[in-house]
Amino acid sequence: MSAIISIIGAKGGTGKTTLSHLLCHGLGLLGKRAVCVMTDDCREMPPHGSQPYVFADGRNAQARTQIIATLRERTGWIGVIDGGANRIETDSELYQAADLVLLPFRDSQEDLRVMYRDLERLPRALALPSQWPSNPWQYQAALRLLESVPAELQSRILAPVFAVSSSKLLLQTPQPESLPTPVNKLSRAFARYTLQLLEHGVASVSAPQTALGASRRMQNLIDTRAAQACHTT
Ligand SMILES: Nc1ncnc2c1ncn2[C@@H]1O[C@H](COP(=O)(O)OP(=O)(O)OP(=O)(O)O)[C@@H](O)[C@H]1O
Ligand SMILES: [Mg+2]
Repeated sequence: MSAIISIIGAKGGTGKTTLSHLLCHGLGLLGKRAVCVMTDDCREMPPHGSQPYVFADGRNAQARTQIIATLRERTGWIGVIDGGANRIETDSELYQAADLVLLPFRDSQEDLRVMYRDLERLPRALALPSQWPSNPWQYQAALRLLESVPAELQSRILAPVFAVSSSKLLLQTPQPESLPTPVNKLSRAFARYTLQLLEHGVASVSAPQTALGASRRMQNLIDTRAAQACHTT
């Protein structure tokens, strides 16, 4: 069976395109056949390079329908659809077509507001903290932001994908022959996490795997390390 994952959402610059490539790259590294379906007509199709996945041009609606139908006929392929900002109708189309729908958002009030609206209109979708800060101060502020999310939405917010500056190489044209270790590690981890979601469904997201659960665990780790450092100085 094939699977389709749509990475969409109304807010611009949340990481949809980067995450689509990151996921396809990770799936390729795990030996899966992945196709990155580009749907943003403001973007040019990248040339095919050394990456372990292929591209499909889904920038017009007819081509998209054909690509999705072809994927559904094939076995063993995973299609990752890269959405575009401010396209409510296209988002609905890509939502309907997908087995798993991810809505990336960054650590800002504005991103949170748009994400709430997206979660409401797309009831199967899951929100994904993206470009998440990893330095302790910013991390703490981002954790406070997650704590402000209404309780009924907490189970729909996945563990964060952290900011890795070299992830911009994924969108470089042409892509480099090989990517730095942090990008490969992040890609594999994100791909494994996504495969688990596809296989076991959204209900398999346990409280420790949500954004808040994962962030609180990490904050405890940071606090413990800071306390240990105080004791040794
Ligand atoms: N995990 C990450 N770590 C560091 N930078 C990131 C990460 N994800 C995305 N970025 C950066 O954030 C910016 C926006 O990313 P991207 O183009 O993927 O967003 P988008 O949602 O596709 O934007 P648009 O709405 O315009 O299509 C880019 O400069 C990208 O390099
Ligand atoms: Mg994009």
